Amino acid sequence: MDTRPSLVLGNVALPSGRVADITLGNVRVTHVGARPLHAEYLDCSGMLVLPAAIDMHVHMRGGVQSAKENWTSGSMSALAGGVTVVVDQPNTIPPVSSPESLQDRVRDAREHSFCSFAVNSSVTPETPLESMWEAGAIAFGETFYARSSYGDAVSDEVLKPALKRIHALGALATIHAETIGDGDDTSLMCHDRARSPEAELRAVQSVGRLNTGGCRLHFCHLSTKQSIDAAPGSVEVTPHHLFLSLEDFDTTDTFGKVNPPLRTEKERKQLWGMWERIDVIASDHAPHTKKEKAQPFPAAPSGIPGTETMVPLLLAQVIDGKIPLQSVVEKTSYRPAEILGIPRAGFRIGDRADFAVYQKIPTPVTPEMLHSRCGWTPFEGHMAVFPRTVIREGIVVFRDGEFFNKESVWFSGKGFRK
Ligand code: NCD
Repeated sequence: MDTRPSLVLGNVALPSGRVADITLGNVRVTHVGARPLHAEYLDCSGMLVLPAAIDMHVHMRGGVQSAKENWTSGSMSALAGGVTVVVDQPNTIPPVSSPESLQDRVRDAREHSFCSFAVNSSVTPETPLESMWEAGAIAFGETFYARSSYGDAVSDEVLKPALKRIHALGALATIHAETIGDGDDTSLMCHDRARSPEAELRAVQSVGRLNTGGCRLHFCHLSTKQSIDAAPGSVEVTPHHLFLSLEDFDTTDTFGKVNPPLRTEKERKQLWGMWERIDVIASDHAPHTKKEKAQPFPAAPSGIPGTETMVPLLLAQVIDGKIPLQSVVEKTSYRPAEILGIPRAGFRIGDRADFAVYQKIPTPVTPEMLHSRCGWTPFEGHMAVFPRTVIREGIVVFRDGEFFNKESVWFSGKGFRK
């Protein structure tokens, strides 16, 4: 490991309250205390310096879906929001369901991504799970328990043995827990009814019952208190379920269409009441073009972009005194690292040297300030605190709107065989 000091973050207010200089080697934190001579120096007095986030649920698209997003635009969007590692979901076109498609995905990201990344394997009847693990998948899923945009549902007959096989590998299964009822899909209200809170709860319970072998489960984007209470595994919640509700949208507004659906204001408030139990905040960054979203409701794809606004929206809540700063770091950085087995970013010697430096001034979100290719955000007007500088593996990769050093790192899963 190269421990040459490349950058010193000066006068950093540590969680303990102590103010110290942090020396970053090429990849890791190498010293906490007085600064060494001959190092680049970034004074962080009065700034908020946080371990950078891992967004463990993004759809970076690319290929035939490049009009929505690709690795370049998606990773710029992540970095500009203080996220230095993303976990890409496998419902691409074609899906990541063979070792070759996983290798293609990694190659594409290596060439075009500004941020570090990991790639999940799909879970379908045809996916060779063991080979995907050896090819470097970090986890299995999101496994669609109900049909979604570009994702076919798996049946109980497929999921039960798949969970046994994933468990035998010692891997993590990530679950998109929904079931779909009858009825038209003509408005946000209908969408909420068809993919109801009760149906989400039933899906969580069913997956728990199918998991007879005790596979480690992670429940993606849970949208209600009840399903979080019932979840037999780690719990992920999105910013859109925390910050947006049905009442914020005209009911035929497709820009609020997402799976699981936005819920009522009452349910949104109950979700905040579960803050302590939530393991991970992840964005489910699911960009679609404005043109696709502008289609009549039944045809418009589900999905909301959000990797760039995820931490900034939460930090505005911290500044308002609504949630503790440390809980944001836990849910966006430490816990995802632990769940995925990625070395954590942080202030200890040996931690991954990924940081984001924020000026404690909230600003209203506008679509123009964001980097996703889709060009829209449902969080317009919400207050957010964006990073001024982002550091990945000891090197400045984003500063005041500019991107540098495009050299992304792939975090392969534990089963990877070179
Ligand atoms: C996701 C997408 O567009 O890829 N959409 C969404 O509404 N969340 C797929 C999915 O997770 O359902």
